[in-house]
Amino acid sequence: MDPRLREIADHTRGFLPDDEADALRAAAATARPGLWLEIGTYCAKSTVHLGSVARDRGAHLVTLDHHHGSEENQEGWDYHDSSLVDPHTGLLETLPHARHAIHDAGLEQTVTLLVGSTQQVAPWWTSPIELLFLDGNHTEDVAQHDYAAFSRHLTPGALLLVHDVFEDPRDGGRPPWNVVQRALASGDFVQESVTGSLRALRRTDGDTEEGSAR
Ligand SMILES: C[S@@+](CC[C@H](N)C(=O)[O-])C[C@H]1O[C@@H](n2cnc3c(N)ncnc32)[C@H](O)[C@@H]1O
Repeated sequence: MDPRLREIADHTRGFLPDDEADALRAAAATARPGLWLEIGTYCAKSTVHLGSVARDRGAHLVTLDHHHGSEENQEGWDYHDSSLVDPHTGLLETLPHARHAIHDAGLEQTVTLLVGSTQQVAPWWTSPIELLFLDGNHTEDVAQHDYAAFSRHLTPGALLLVHDVFEDPRDGGRPPWNVVQRALASGDFVQESVTGSLRALRRTDGDTEEGSAR
């Protein structure tokens, strides 16, 4: 990774340990160029990692977030950062931080920031996706929604990356684990790697019930 981008990613707030960041880039390097979609931008830490590979591969990365944080980012929860609260709205506001990271990394031509909820975007999204990184809301309903709504646009051979997947419930919440189990049970995906809580799956041609219903 370009050392300047690495430094920017290292100084960007977020939730991606170094080994998972390295694995994210290594997996992305095997994806075809075309359109890549990240769900869960936050301050764009993972976006800088993915964007650096997207630029090298000639891919375009869309990163989707409403930028008001997940449940665990709100006041009173473990992952709340009070310096991210916008005094105008009183809400968590990560968009300016993400813009700065993408600007500083020189990735503005490679990355499109899409501001909205996955529920707003899913109904009109039609583009085929070559890489999907699921790192948004970790409640069961929304995690399942995001998987169902966007994985259907993955082309055969495309990559599905899921973050915060914990086999042992004592290590973290169930929804990302359940999403990976659902993807594997569909017969449409094979698992290629596991690094910490990051899983890389690849879409097969799979002619299964869930797959053929698409
Ligand atoms: C775990 S953080 C993403 C971390 C980021 N990928 C990183 O590397 O630091 C999850 C993000 O999902 C966003 N999010 C939660 N629910 C969402 C929804 N329904 N639609 C869009 N974004 C959502 C939150 O605003 C939050 O920024």
